[in-house]
Amino acid sequence: MKKTILITGGAGFIGSHVVRLFVNKYSDYNIVNLDKLTYAGNLENLSDVENADNYIFEKGDIVDKDFINSLFEKYDFDGVVHLAAESHVDRSITNPMEFIMTNVVGTVNLLNAAKNHWKANEEGKLFYHVSTDEVYGSLGNTGLFLETTSYDPQSPYSSSKASSDHFVRAYGNTYGMPYVISNCSNNYGPNQFPEKLLPLFINNIKTSKPLPVYGDGLFTRDWLYVVDHARAIDIIYHNGRNTETYNIGGFNEWTNIDLIKIMCKQMDEFLGNTEGTAEGLITYVKDRPGHDKRYAIDATKLKNELGWEPSLQFEEGLSKTIKWYLDNEEWMNNVTSGDYQKYYSEQYG
Ligand code: NAD
Ligand code: TYD
Repeated sequence: MKKTILITGGAGFIGSHVVRLFVNKYSDYNIVNLDKLTYAGNLENLSDVENADNYIFEKGDIVDKDFINSLFEKYDFDGVVHLAAESHVDRSITNPMEFIMTNVVGTVNLLNAAKNHWKANEEGKLFYHVSTDEVYGSLGNTGLFLETTSYDPQSPYSSSKASSDHFVRAYGNTYGMPYVISNCSNNYGPNQFPEKLLPLFINNIKTSKPLPVYGDGLFTRDWLYVVDHARAIDIIYHNGRNTETYNIGGFNEWTNIDLIKIMCKQMDEFLGNTEGTAEGLITYVKDRPGHDKRYAIDATKLKNELGWEPSLQFEEGLSKTIKWYLDNEEWMNNVTSGDYQKYYSEQYG
């Protein structure tokens, strides 16, 4: 019998890559993509799989518990891969409540629906919660986040994700909910909404707009190509051990300013501009309040236990990413029309 898997947030950046992978790889699964289609959700991200026989889209809000319960009744899901979330730190600073509703209440609604629908100890069920390294807080100049690192979230976004992680573990501990959690570092690649660093800067360079670098630009992130994150999710969903946590990272740390400079160089080459043109757009702006200094993941457990490693070198991934945004001008134009302009002027003045 075909398995039916619910993927939440499948019209977003990472979710769309996970949906594509599962739909193409598992013809014996039915994949139901549930998404509210917020500003970050875009069905254009999935135009290549929308007509597949094993793919179904459901528009809806994970905060709406009756709707979520009815979906479990309708499809009798075998598993959940939960990615739907409000995901942008800057937005969480201006509107934390939205993050509490979707990331905490929405997650608990899904857990309740799974708990009520799945019989205790029923074979083959799994709740996979996709989380972030930001739950661990901020590192100093040395050290890496391990699965055993204590939670110390610093932003409204990371606090809401940390809370949802705790609820997943609590449902495992209290009700025997079968689950896995993964905490991943910063993703980059095609289909990311252009208010996150990389697509924002690619688009600004293309349109000769300033590149707003927060603070001194010496904040460090560990970057992973989004398709490698989707591969990790596939491997963990199928082979991860019940109630385990897996950190996912790129072994690829960059300060923002170094990352921006290498991106500027590649953009000049792609656009045929004189070297230094894009760098000339760098503008230091006021820092993000409470800005986490450094994130860096130790993904050794995932590598040793399940054999996952990033498949791309960073320069190659970056070049593929830039090429995608330049080749997909219509996608960029569609997502940056309307509300995006309002957000941009509120955020950057
Ligand atoms: P995204 O913002 O691009 O996409 C989120 C998706 O969730 C959108 O399609 C949106 O429409 C949907 N959504 C939002 N609220 C919803 C609701 N109430 N009901 C149903 N759908 C809703 O986010 P992303 O970058 O793809 O992140 C996906 C997941 O991965 C999130 O849980 C995030 O915390 C986690 N994550 C992201 C990163 C990263 O670098 N982007 C890194 C680690 C973990
Ligand atoms: P972002 O893509 O928002 O991811 P996160 O905050 O979840 O790590 O930002 C990545 C880094 O880039 C972070 O240190 C903030 C910085 N940044 C800027 O300097 N300017 C910007 O306009 C944005 C959006 C981010």
